[in-house]
Amino acid sequence: MTTTTPDIATASEVTFPPAFRWGAATAAYQIEGAADEDGRTPSIWDTFSRTPGTVRNGDTGDIAADHYHHMREDVALMAGLGLTDYRFSVSWSRVQPTGRGPAVQKGLDFYRALVDELLAKGIRPVLTLYHWDLPQELEDAGGWPQRDTAQRFAEYTELVAQALGDRVRTWTTLNEPWCAAFLGYAEGVHAPGRREPEAALRAAHHLNLAHGLAVGVLRETTRPSAEVSLTLNLAAVRPLTGSAADADAARRVDALANRIFLDPVFRGHYAADLRADTAQLTDWSFVRDGDLAVISRPVDSLGINYYTPTVVAAGSHPLPSPWPAAQDHVRFVPAPGPRTAMDWPVDADGLYEVLTRLRDELPGTPLLVTENGAAYDDYADPAGQVHDPERIAYLRAHLEAVHRAMAAGADVRGYFLWSLLDNFEWAYGYSKRFGLVHVDFASQRRTPKDSARWYADVVAHRRLPHA
Ligand code: FCB
Repeated sequence: MTTTTPDIATASEVTFPPAFRWGAATAAYQIEGAADEDGRTPSIWDTFSRTPGTVRNGDTGDIAADHYHHMREDVALMAGLGLTDYRFSVSWSRVQPTGRGPAVQKGLDFYRALVDELLAKGIRPVLTLYHWDLPQELEDAGGWPQRDTAQRFAEYTELVAQALGDRVRTWTTLNEPWCAAFLGYAEGVHAPGRREPEAALRAAHHLNLAHGLAVGVLRETTRPSAEVSLTLNLAAVRPLTGSAADADAARRVDALANRIFLDPVFRGHYAADLRADTAQLTDWSFVRDGDLAVISRPVDSLGINYYTPTVVAAGSHPLPSPWPAAQDHVRFVPAPGPRTAMDWPVDADGLYEVLTRLRDELPGTPLLVTENGAAYDDYADPAGQVHDPERIAYLRAHLEAVHRAMAAGADVRGYFLWSLLDNFEWAYGYSKRFGLVHVDFASQRRTPKDSARWYADVVAHRRLPHA
């Protein structure tokens, strides 16, 4: 007897269920521009990118894709793609410039208008409260290694939830706290550019605490009650060989990349091996009584961002590193296979691995793929067309992996492509293009790439077309 999973087609047809959410994602600092308008003050990314030597070509997000002034055009592009959902983030220093005190109404008005425009077009807003742009004044007061920053985040959450809690249903507290903590405070390649491994561990805990506090605020403030989520860039960690030493390297990276967030949020503790591995840096006394109960307040779904797998072996890697205390135990090995323009190996099995792991470890937690996509060296040809067959191949392979994971029982409710628009790719500036829509940054002209038409077709039919 053969069995089929309802709503999910089998082998030959890659079809998604009717309620599957089809989105695209962006982040405030990467697209908005208008850095000094309507009362916005610098975030750590403004300060960092304006510091020579931090971002490729000296690029900053001052203008970016100027989405602040092209919002309606951009929502129209989303409607043209047939998106059911749009994931964006709010710029903290646009709505609460110093990270304290009352909200600036003009800043909130921008997001009110965006949300209303989305709703008018039948697109569900998925709002991320923190995508790495801490108000500079809070960094000056110590940043995420400072416990008070979590409290400040709870206050900010309340301001945004009061303004939008009646019409935004899906809320994400944090995007990729791993990057905020470890790229920002340990390796220093992201804002605020600090190289303090112990501070990075504190930052991770305070980001977790901020998440938990925000969950409480969102539950109290939103009407009807929000769907509350968190987005993690979980690593698909693979040991290079079956040796015990490589397995131990993988365990260490899994602790620092994945379990440092999954354990407190879903299980209410930090793992003993994580504490032991980092004991030379900290005794973890920054974790106070009661913190873990706050951090483990239930969420309604988990967002996963996935790009490429992480292959590790026993060995060492140079400092500075985003892996506190792991430098003498772990070597990172490039995975084989084709690469994107980021030099990231293309390997869709990693997404399947992450989703099926969560199926096993977090039964009952709906999953959303909140970012997945690829950068390629796209350009408009003389006829004004942007042909990006590699991106289409990447997306197809990863959507197939999502489908396979769903057929294997993973409760995946949606897929958000990174990104709607070419944008400011953090330390790479404008040199890397992830968009479905090409942006000419000189003229701000938007041109949907071939992949945009391909994705619109997938969304319309809920099915991958034959190759
Ligand atoms: C993720 C970030 C996102 C984007 C992609 C490429 O880590 O969340 O802002 O830069 O990588």
